[in-house]
Amino acid sequence: MAEPVLKWAGGKRQILHEIRACFPPESDVDAYHEPFFGGGALFFKTGPHSSGTINDINERLMSFYRVVRDSPNALIEVLEEFDGPESDPDPNRKFSKANRKGKEVDQYYYQQRELYNRRPNGEEYDEVEEAALLMYLNRTCYNGLYRENNSGEFNVPIGRHSSADWVQASRIMNASRALADIGIYYGDFSYVLDHATEDDLVYFDPPYEPVSHTSSFVEYSSKEFDTEEQERLSEVAVELNEIGAHVVVSNSPPMRDLYQYLDEFRVHDVGAKRHINSDGEGRGKVGEIIVTNVPEDNRREKTAYLDQFVETDTGQT
Ligand SMILES: C[S@@+](CC[C@H](N)C(=O)[O-])C[C@H]1O[C@@H](n2cnc3c(N)ncnc32)[C@H](O)[C@@H]1O
Repeated sequence: MAEPVLKWAGGKRQILHEIRACFPPESDVDAYHEPFFGGGALFFKTGPHSSGTINDINERLMSFYRVVRDSPNALIEVLEEFDGPESDPDPNRKFSKANRKGKEVDQYYYQQRELYNRRPNGEEYDEVEEAALLMYLNRTCYNGLYRENNSGEFNVPIGRHSSADWVQASRIMNASRALADIGIYYGDFSYVLDHATEDDLVYFDPPYEPVSHTSSFVEYSSKEFDTEEQERLSEVAVELNEIGAHVVVSNSPPMRDLYQYLDEFRVHDVGAKRHINSDGEGRGKVGEIIVTNVPEDNRREKTAYLDQFVETDTGQT
């Protein structure tokens, strides 16, 4: 089975099973679409998909997946050439002494970071090399974070990785096969309205912070993806429902209000089992919600357990 190739924030590792359980049976799904792809944890877990699309607003990220799909061997070859992040910069390449701002570059990592940022600086770049640089930085940067400054430059500092493995050849080859029949797009999530048709499955995983029990709606904020964007997402979900697509959305609990009054959608709290099994610690904490129009009797697995936490916590049976 394929696995994610990149480390990506918001990868949903703890609740992959619950999200997948809400999907309709494979036989009911024509094509699979994932408009907020990131690391694609669900895509890889639930594949192979014989048709569909993936998308993210991050252009270089989606170029990376195009290279993984179309040129995996060339990508691996470039990755094998890289040196350790703390080594000296390669004297035969640009930015071996100073970065674009004239600041000294004394580690190989920072030279590769500068080379990766050619595209946002309007300079010529090679797609395969850029993809290799993204993979390399993802495996050697601080905490596997991906962050860009206002000019679109990747700016995460070097991490501490005594034995970083940035080649990951078998992951790349498996991912390449998983992506073979998939359309790769970059841009706003609403692209999916032009691609999804009846009986397709669309899984949305927008940016959000899982909230703690002390958080409230007012505290929830994401510069990238604010409440207005969340409203727009719920409107797209409704449109997809109207054309007969299966829709599953991961989100944070404050977004419940956008869906709970829609007849066709059900909202589930995730975190149930964790809280029932604990000795009361963290009680009241619901990390995330899953919203879906897939009826409970037509899911890949039984999901009645998803809401046990809420029933237990409020004393309802
Ligand atoms: C929570 S992450 C997705 C994580 C993913 N499920 C995984 O397994 O790694 C959200 C993603 O949405 C992307 N994004 C932000 N705004 C977007 C938009 N308007 N349209 C499409 N993608 C967007 C971000 O770049 C980020 O990769």
